[in-house]
Amino acid sequence: MRADFQGWVAARQSRFEEVLGGLLPRADVAPQRLHEAMRYAVLDGGKRVRPLLAFAAGELAGADMARVEVAGAAVELIHAYSLVHDDMPCMDDDVLRRGKPTCHVQYDEATALLVGDALQTLAFQLLAEHRLADDAAKQLEMVRLLAVASGSRGMAGGQAIDLASVGKALTLPELEFMHIHKTGALIRSAILLGARCGNHLNAEQLEKLDRFGKLIGLAFQVVDDVLDCEADTATLGKTAGKDADNDKPTYVSLLGLEAARDMAQRLHREALETLTEFGDSAQRLRELADFIVLRKF
Ligand code: IPE
Ligand code: IPE
Ligand code: MG
Ligand code: MG
Ligand code: MG
Repeated sequence: MRADFQGWVAARQSRFEEVLGGLLPRADVAPQRLHEAMRYAVLDGGKRVRPLLAFAAGELAGADMARVEVAGAAVELIHAYSLVHDDMPCMDDDVLRRGKPTCHVQYDEATALLVGDALQTLAFQLLAEHRLADDAAKQLEMVRLLAVASGSRGMAGGQAIDLASVGKALTLPELEFMHIHKTGALIRSAILLGARCGNHLNAEQLEKLDRFGKLIGLAFQVVDDVLDCEADTATLGKTAGKDADNDKPTYVSLLGLEAARDMAQRLHREALETLTEFGDSAQRLRELADFIVLRKF
């Protein structure tokens, strides 16, 4: 990681932690236990890849960063909710997340369910409450984007396919479809929401960014599959080897470790190609794409 990029990431992450802390309900406000659990699930952990992508896209689009922070927070709240539910016994049944006990272990299952519900609705509350675009129709389109990315034609749908696929050998197109939905959709929406906070990009350029998001979103989950197999629990902050334990079809189970790594590299290259016309102004997005594919956790 170049020092300049590392500095940008650190500064953005620490500023974003403050933003999230201020947007989440306070833990001393009733219902205290639910609010405490929401803060537990969101704060102090996570790479914040989706908001970082939103920031980079926002910079490219000449956006007001205060707006992008709200959009990035909305996506991160949906992501955090998806992790809380993903870890529950009815789904992946995991006990460790972001180096801490999972939400249902630290609190209880009913609380974890409600944390997910409340984080999801808070995400949309933020998009409705803050001015993110210059005209209302554009902002409404942003709300729609996040809703589609989160719902049955996005993350939740991908999770449904994931659960229905346990013990099955999916074909490559089926696996790609699952990954594009369960993980890719939200990553894609983060980039588009960040870009739409600004006015500098035309429809064709937004289309290119969307293609970048689709490719890097898929690459993200391919790498997640690889890391589940090759990294250790302490580094990941979540239980390693969980996919094989749960008999999940993954890029590693279908192609093997080496070919899964190659696939991530290929998607990475294709993603970078979509950014060619942006020149230097897309440098942060390129660096984030590199990080997504080269990361060790
Ligand atoms: C993990 O996402 C779940 C997937 C969608 C693969 P991240 O690897 O972004 O998790 P955090 O936010 O950094 O903990
Ligand atoms: C989860 O995929 C994708 C979500 C929508 C949360 P995984 O089940 O592979 O995520 P991890 O490995 O538990 O973080
Ligand atoms: Mg899962
Ligand atoms: Mg999981
Ligand atoms: Mg995983």
